[in-house]
Amino acid sequence: MSDDGVNAGRRRFLTAATSVVGGAGVVGVAVPFVASWNPSAKAKAAGAPVKYNINKLEPGQMVTVEWRGQPVFVVRRTTEALQNLEKVVPLLRDPDSEESIQPAYVNPENRAIKPHLLVLVGLCTHLGCAPIYRPEVGATDLGGSEWLGGFFCPCHGSKYDMAGRVYKGVPAPTNLVVPAYSYESDDVIVIGVDQEDAA
Ligand code: FES
Repeated sequence: MSDDGVNAGRRRFLTAATSVVGGAGVVGVAVPFVASWNPSAKAKAAGAPVKYNINKLEPGQMVTVEWRGQPVFVVRRTTEALQNLEKVVPLLRDPDSEESIQPAYVNPENRAIKPHLLVLVGLCTHLGCAPIYRPEVGATDLGGSEWLGGFFCPCHGSKYDMAGRVYKGVPAPTNLVVPAYSYESDDVIVIGVDQEDAA
């Protein structure tokens, strides 16, 4: 047999083998595809909304709630903290949240449905570290009189105000993310469910 004959035979063999693999591949792909339509109870729980009762949250206090494996900060802002949101605007990169992620139903400046209650995904928009809640006005290690309270990321020094809005001149490019959330009642928020009828 010539070289051509050998190669032609080998080509036929490879074609046949590829067809078989291709056929097996279709079956192999079909199984996980079907499975993806039937998520396990664990997977459903991991993506489920989370309720939190805010009635014991004191003014100025923050709690961290886990939702979809990530920390969500829930803060009851003081009236002073809300008043300071306007004063800090000149120091911010995106004060009106035009380039930041948040639901359309939150106020773009205070970034909440009801002003006193702030809900944020607690992951820095630089590289995902967890910022630290630093509400104390005038903290000397965060700029003294220019610091009106907010969140500080210890990884590379990004700063956010009391609405999660990022300061200019830090590594983080955008404001902290506001997740979908809603009020089931005056005291219970549901993280992961959109507010359909927000004012
Ligand atoms: S991860 Fe927060 S500043 Fe880099």
